[in-house]
Amino acid sequence: MALLDVADIHSFYGKSHVLEGVSLQVGEGELVTLLGRNGAGKTTTLKSVTGVVRPRSGSVRFAGAETVGREIHEIARAGIALVPEHRGIFALLTVEENLRIAVRDGWWKLSDVYDLFPRLYERRRNGGNALSGGEQQMLSIARALLNNPRLLLLDEPTEGLAPVIVDEIVRVLVDIKRTGMSVLLVEQNLAVCEKLADRHYVLEQGRIVYSGSAAEFAADRSVRDRYLALDG
Ligand SMILES: Nc1ncnc2c1ncn2[C@@H]1O[C@H](COP(=O)(O)OP(=O)(O)OP(=O)(O)O)[C@@H](O)[C@H]1O
Ligand SMILES: [Mg+2]
Repeated sequence: MALLDVADIHSFYGKSHVLEGVSLQVGEGELVTLLGRNGAGKTTTLKSVTGVVRPRSGSVRFAGAETVGREIHEIARAGIALVPEHRGIFALLTVEENLRIAVRDGWWKLSDVYDLFPRLYERRRNGGNALSGGEQQMLSIARALLNNPRLLLLDEPTEGLAPVIVDEIVRVLVDIKRTGMSVLLVEQNLAVCEKLADRHYVLEQGRIVYSGSAAEFAADRSVRDRYLALDG
């Protein structure tokens, strides 16, 4: 049984039918990417998993239990953490305060995330509003880890970051994967996806139009030409 099993979900904003039967799975310890052009429905898929958007039909099972219809905080407490597109950190709190309020009992401790991100340790007394974009992204990932989830969702974590910071985020995701964490990564940077993923899905106009293992995806150059307006 997959840790996350999304089956045929249909999600709407008002009358606008955005997800038209999305199905995907993330296994225990797997890192899976969700690719697709702007507006394909990637963020809406993550929102449908975290309960921010409630699918009108279909099911989202996490560790065997249905989440559709449950409250956002209940779903989070069940073990799903999201690193959102806009990072969701508190500008008026220091780095360390941002981290401390995220802590829940478990494997990841404050000292572990400082080991993972030495930069955050150096900046621990700085306000959230004093951080660079890359530091904000690191803080957002660190906060999600301190929630000690079983499944980590990331929404375009490398978007807008300088290549050297992108490399740093990739290194960290490799380390996180090594701990056995299950990860669903939304990402438009194909090179990043190919360094990390066990499997890929491609979403187009609210439907999954491709799924394959990392090896299958790498061998099938036509997928990226058909569905991804991306380089790499
Ligand atoms: N709050 C909203 N209200 C109405 N429509 C929305 C809302 N959020 C997204 N949409 C629409 O739903 C569709 C899917 O959006 P979504 O944000 O899920 O795409 P995405 O794949 O994450 O795109 P991007 O790569 O730009 O982040 C788009 O057509 C978008 O305009
Ligand atoms: Mg998005």
